[in-house]
Amino acid sequence: MRLNRAVIVAIDGPAGSGKSTVARSLAERLGFRYLDTGAMYRALTWLALRDGVPLEDGDALARLAHAHPVSFGEDGHVEIAGEDVSAAIREVEIDRSVPVVARHPAVRELMRERQRALGSEGDVVIEGRDIGSVVAPDAEVKVFLVADPEERARRRSGEREGVSGEALAADLRKRDERDAVNTQPAEDAVILDTTDLDIEEVVARVAALVEARAA
Ligand code: DC
Repeated sequence: MRLNRAVIVAIDGPAGSGKSTVARSLAERLGFRYLDTGAMYRALTWLALRDGVPLEDGDALARLAHAHPVSFGEDGHVEIAGEDVSAAIREVEIDRSVPVVARHPAVRELMRERQRALGSEGDVVIEGRDIGSVVAPDAEVKVFLVADPEERARRRSGEREGVSGEALAADLRKRDERDAVNTQPAEDAVILDTTDLDIEEVVARVAALVEARAA
């Protein structure tokens, strides 16, 4: 299936809404590239913590991001400053610090520019918070995933070993508050509640939207 130009599918939504699993699986099904923009904010946070750059200093973080662009290996590995940080960026410490980094306008501006560049290299599924609304407002398909807080915390607990369900639920609430300003559905996004859907079902629904758009 092909439109005349590169197709962008934007998958936005809060933590635990199913974005990553759905976006990755959808990209595979459609033969599109996959871009995880949350991983970019996470990698920058990892580097800032390693190098002792204050997380409250937006300009210093933007300089750090400028000097060390995040890149993705063929197999989806996330790299920054010559380090493979794919596993390290999924630690709880990063979960807790990344919203502080991601809220700085100078950081966002730089990241969005890089996301647009990475997204312009052909058909792509881009997942994030502000993809349909800001990064790629002309994306062909925009989906905003939502799910009940209890279900989102449950999904997270499968991904974070050694942290209690209660702590994860509390972390999720805190992140929701901090991320809220940058997690807004585009006006023309399709809102999809994934609480009672399994991955295959969500992927099939979004794939149908892409196919309908291409037809
Ligand atoms: O989706 P995630 O949990 O990997 O995102 C990590 C953090 O980055 C989260 O706090 C929200 C933020 N983020 C953002 O502000 N904009 C994006 N496009 C992607 C992620």
